[in-house]
Amino acid sequence: MQKLIQKAEKNHILNQEEIKSLLENSSIDDELFNAADRVREKYVGNEVHLRALIEFSNTCKQHCKYCGLRLENKKLDRYNIDEEIIFKFVEKAVSYGYKTVVLQSGESNSYSTEQIINIIRKIKSLNISITLSIGEKTFKEYEEYKKAGADRYLLRIETTDKDLYKKMHPEMDFENRLNCLYNLKKLNYEVGTGCLVGLPNQSLESLSNDILFFKELDADMIGIGPFIPNPNTPLKNETGGSFNLALKVMAVTRLLLPDINIPATTAMETLNSNGRIIALKSGANVVMPNATEGIYRKKYEIYPGKICVNDTPEKCSICINSKIIQIGRTISQSHGISNHFINRIK
Ligand code: SAM
Ligand code: SF4
Ligand code: FES
Repeated sequence: MQKLIQKAEKNHILNQEEIKSLLENSSIDDELFNAADRVREKYVGNEVHLRALIEFSNTCKQHCKYCGLRLENKKLDRYNIDEEIIFKFVEKAVSYGYKTVVLQSGESNSYSTEQIINIIRKIKSLNISITLSIGEKTFKEYEEYKKAGADRYLLRIETTDKDLYKKMHPEMDFENRLNCLYNLKKLNYEVGTGCLVGLPNQSLESLSNDILFFKELDADMIGIGPFIPNPNTPLKNETGGSFNLALKVMAVTRLLLPDINIPATTAMETLNSNGRIIALKSGANVVMPNATEGIYRKKYEIYPGKICVNDTPEKCSICINSKIIQIGRTISQSHGISNHFINRIK
């Protein structure tokens, strides 16, 4: 096992069997996390990039079985924040020092392409980077957003196990999701994807394949989070993912994709009150603090127990900055372009 970790730390290559054996063997967890931490330091340094997350709408036309924003959830009070208010939230985020915003929402037609373009253009006047996370769109739409100034896009593949994908998303098409990711690459976005850990009947083989897929796609960012059952979804009685396994998937991802950006995810902190800091010490180099203002945070209820729902963007900014400094890391003052992306487009 130690040999496998050494090999991955040196060559950044493992096959499916090898990844699986690292994921199933709990005796080597600390060595794995320490190796991922060393690779992180060597390839992306000690800076932590902060991205202000703005959850601008919780309306969604999709039916993902695990997600509280799914169309069938009638218990959720839906909102679409107006363009001017989104811009105000972004301005506030910039005033707290953020250099990147992530605009995230359900997948919906609540905003026209023109409206999204207008929001992007307006935000770009503030000289910050924009990440979009608004689901599957056409090539043309992705192209228009890019032209308007969007820099990055987050679209998790969720799982590469096609049968499991179909069970989790009966109305969606795995091939289309893949296509979206390749379209985003073609359009020169910094491309982020990732997976859920602990979906019902998800095997360690399939998680190993997810990691191999991240490498094959040549992604610039990977977000990994444990699945947390939501009582208002069909998966309400499932067990959910574990913090430790999600952390291991993340650490192996760092070993195999050494120069990408990896966030310490909110879902990890939801399962472990020190989860993001542990993740930052196990391979992660990005945090996405919530910068959604007011009543909306509570209503963006993907899963229960989400952290910071009663806090303000200002509080989250101060909180996360001090936690990061306390572990001896620095807060990046740049836009935090992924080193992998820089190397990829050279
Ligand atoms: N609608 C866009 C999409 O699906 O790409 C972006 C928003 S969606 C809420 C962001 C991510 O939330 C998804 O990619 C999914 O992995 C995650 N998510 C949804 N339900 C979850 C749950 N119950 N537990 C953990 N993560 C969840
Ligand atoms: Fe909608 Fe995204 Fe949730 Fe799926 S994961 S239901 S697309 S918000
Ligand atoms: Fe929100 Fe700590 S990050 S209160």
